[in-house]
This record gives sequence, structure tokens and C-alpha cells, in this order.
Amino acid sequence: MTALSVSTSSAASLRVDAVVVGIAKGDKGPVLAPGAESVAEAFGGRLAEVLATLGATGAEGEAVKVPAPAGLKAGVVLAVGLGDAAEDGAYGPEALRRAAGVAARTLAGTGKAALALPAVGPAEVEAAALGGLLGAYAFTAYRTDGRNGKAPVGELVVLAGRKGQKDAKAAVERATVLAGEMNRARDLVNTPSNDLHPKSFAAAAQAAGKEYGLKVEVLDEKALAKGSYGGILGVGQGSANPPRLVKVAYTHPKAKTTLAFVGKGITYDSGGISLKPAGHNETMKCDMSGAAAVLAAVVAASRLGLAVNVTGWLALAENMPSGSATRPGDVLRMYGGRTVEVLNTDAEGRLVLADAIVRAGEEGPDAIVDVATLTGAMVLALGTRTFGVMSDRDAFRDRVVDAAGRAGEQAWPMPLPAELRKGMDSAVADIANMGERMGGGLVAGLFLKEFVAEGIAWAHLDIAGPAFHEGQPYGYTPKGGTGSAVRTLVQLAEDAAAGALL
Ligand code: BES
Ligand code: MN
Ligand code: ZN
Repeated sequence: MTALSVSTSSAASLRVDAVVVGIAKGDKGPVLAPGAESVAEAFGGRLAEVLATLGATGAEGEAVKVPAPAGLKAGVVLAVGLGDAAEDGAYGPEALRRAAGVAARTLAGTGKAALALPAVGPAEVEAAALGGLLGAYAFTAYRTDGRNGKAPVGELVVLAGRKGQKDAKAAVERATVLAGEMNRARDLVNTPSNDLHPKSFAAAAQAAGKEYGLKVEVLDEKALAKGSYGGILGVGQGSANPPRLVKVAYTHPKAKTTLAFVGKGITYDSGGISLKPAGHNETMKCDMSGAAAVLAAVVAASRLGLAVNVTGWLALAENMPSGSATRPGDVLRMYGGRTVEVLNTDAEGRLVLADAIVRAGEEGPDAIVDVATLTGAMVLALGTRTFGVMSDRDAFRDRVVDAAGRAGEQAWPMPLPAELRKGMDSAVADIANMGERMGGGLVAGLFLKEFVAEGIAWAHLDIAGPAFHEGQPYGYTPKGGTGSAVRTLVQLAEDAAAGALL
């Protein structure tokens, strides 16, 4: 990963390849953001003018390079847009993260760059650092033809004022851990399903657990059969790659709260016998994004030493059609004994999650948060950048949405309308895995609710939209796996450690 440090040196005096300044949209063209003062001086006070002549406006996403004048040790000045100018010069963390992300992407192939962004306090230092490290991400494991592109920027120096220097160490550590773990999730999501199947995913969890002192337990197909995990087995039985349930536990001696995170880990979703039509299959390696986020978040909690217990449950299976696959109309006996009629084998996520949620509930956590690329309906409802949050407790749901916002993720509260439950009534089993088409994301949430033990706070995050980015990169978000929900889960763990979640 790109190296990261904080410095109080002036932007003009640092020996770097490029120095990055912020520009914003003013009433009469681009204005320089705080942090750029010494760079502007080296341009004889005409930097904003030069940038305007080059077409810069200060809009978000903008990146304009200018050769550095004598007086700057850097060779190049890169101006990145912060969006609308802030009157007080204080830019929000997301504007800083995105601008730093754009800078890191633009500077791929460069050795060392200084970020002279408005890094007022530790929150801004952390935002610039996180955006930079996330923007520098590249997935090149499968490039052998020399098209690796440029190497990620080698080193980023975040320039901080005196206030930013205070607590800078903690800010850099948090940014390093969050970026490292989001990038772990991105790597897992981007790894194609011929290499990432339940067994290799479980091995990746074991390796991460070994490195960061977590207890990892893996149930293989035999153990799953012995334990009667009918949901996970039913989804996985059509595949040559058998399913797994992985438990990843982080404990802290001073913890007062225990959280359970449950992740949907369908390493490939073909739809099964209810096969997806062409055009809906190509990105379905991303259907384990929930499990990737859960693993990453538990590792992050450990690396940050949070005073909370966090148990991650990865429900891993490959959903394939074959002679041994579950048929539409089959009835599965889930972990815990309830029965589900599988009317559509493409509604498989809720089946593996149900087993894992029941298992997680047995340990009596204070809260269960599940994360899943669960429904196309949620993408239709909220678009590709926002995930839906559902819970049977409005106050808990709102706290999760609020935590997401503070963590820099777009989330929105969704209801669980009781009248949608009867659509899942089955003629033969306790419940069917499909209900009304309208409100399909909420129907899925209502299905999961049935498997949450009484007395445990529960929230469901449907990340089908933001988990995998198919468009061009923007801000610190690359093509492919995004690391969606990692920061929200870590924020929840931090809130729980502070006694502020439940
Ligand atoms: N993995 C899909 C949901 C999905 C869609 C994720 C688009 C990411 C992008 C899920 O397993 C699925 O197939 N859901 C069905 C449910 C339906 C059959 C009730 C859906 O949304 O169509
Ligand atoms: Mn599916
Ligand atoms: Zn799926």
C-alpha cells in the first residue's frame, strides 16, 4: 500500500514530485482553499488565475496539473476540486476524502506527493489520508500483459497545520486501518469466482485472523451437515465448491457490548435453477461483498483495539444450477428447525443469512447487523451509491443510518411494512423465500426478521447498489469492489465501545 505520513512543513519546502492543492467554486471562478498559501506565493499570487485560464472551476472531481515555478521544491502542482467554496474555509470530510482520492488516482505513477489540502484538525487529516489511500487502490493481480497501468502513487505526505498535527498519529492510524481493510474487502470482491470460492474465502479469513489475533472457526460441508445448517447447505449443494460458515471473533477484556456482524457470502450467484438471464450474471462475483465487509470490519476492530467484542459470521456458498442443486419447490430445514419453501433459487442470500443469523443469535449478542447484496429491488429504490437500512426497531435503525453518515457512507432508512409478510405464506412450509414483487427489498428484510431471536437489536443493510461500482472511477471509489459498509460497521463498533449504540 501507498506509504503515508503527516508533516507540518510548508508545501513549498518539501522535496516531493507533486504538491496537491484544493480549489473551490467561487462566485468569480476558482478560489484556492486554505493550505495552498505557500504554493500560491511561489506563483506570485497568480495561481488561481492560472488555474482559471486552464479551465479549472473548482468543481468536485476536477484535477488540473501545472508545472511548478522556481521556489517550489516540487516539480508539479496538482489542483483538485472541492466543490462549492466554504465561507469559513472549513471543508467537510467527504469533500476532502474525494479530493484526495482524485489526487491519488491522478498521480498514479508518481513517487511522492504532498497533500496541501485544508487539513485544519485531526478529522481533516484523517479524511485526506483516507481518501488518498483509497484513491491509490488498484487491482492488478490478474494483469500479465504489461497492462498493469501505472503503479499507485508511492508515498503521500498530508500537510497539517498546528491543530492538525495534534492527534495526527491517531488520525493516520485510523485512516491506515480503514483504508487497508476497505482495500482488503475490495480485493476479495474483485477476485473472480474461479479463485474465490467458499473454501478459499475461509482460508483468507483464517490468514487474516492469524495475522491480527482473531479466533477463526470454519464449519465445512461435513460440519454444516452435522449441525443441520439447511439454508447454507441448500444454497451450496448445486456447486462443485462446497459451502462454509466462518466465525471470526474479536474480543476485548474491557468490552461491555458484544456485536454480531453477519455477511452474505455468495461467491458466485448464477441464480441456481432459477437461472439469471444473460446480462445479470457478469458482475455476480460481487455477491459476497457483505461477507467481505464483515471480515474487514472485524479485523479493523482488532487493529484499532476497540473496547468491544465483535463476532463476524461469513455465510459462504456458491449458487449454481446442476443435478444436485436445490429445485424451486424444495423445502429446506433451516438451522434451528424452521422450514422454508424455496420458490425461487435466486433468492438465495436470505437462506444462507437465516442460518447464520440464528447461529449468531444463539450466542446472545447485544445486536446483530447483517450486510448483504440482497435485492435488485433495493438498487431500483436507492440507486447505486446508497444502501438501505432496515430494522424492527426504528431507533436502532436510525442510529445505524446516522453512524453510516458519520463514517462517510450514503445510507437511507427503509420500512418493514407488516402487510408484506403474508405474501411469503407457504402452502407447505413455515415460510417461502419469496413474496410480493413490489417492495422486494423490504420483503427480503421481513424474511430475515423472522430468524432474529427475540430481545436482540437487529439491523439489515442491503448494499446491492453500492457494493460494486460499474461506472468510471470517481472520488476515492474505483471500478469494481468498493468496500461498501466496512466503515459503517467499524463506526458501529466504535459507537458500541463508547457506550453510544444501544
Ligand atoms: N444477488 C442478488 C441481488 C443483486 C442484484 C445484487 C443486483 C447485486 C446487484 C440476489 O441474490 C437476487 O438474485 N435477488 C433477487 C430476489 C428475487 C428472486 C426475489 C432479485 O433481487 O431479483
Ligand atoms: Mn440471487
Ligand atoms: Zn445473491
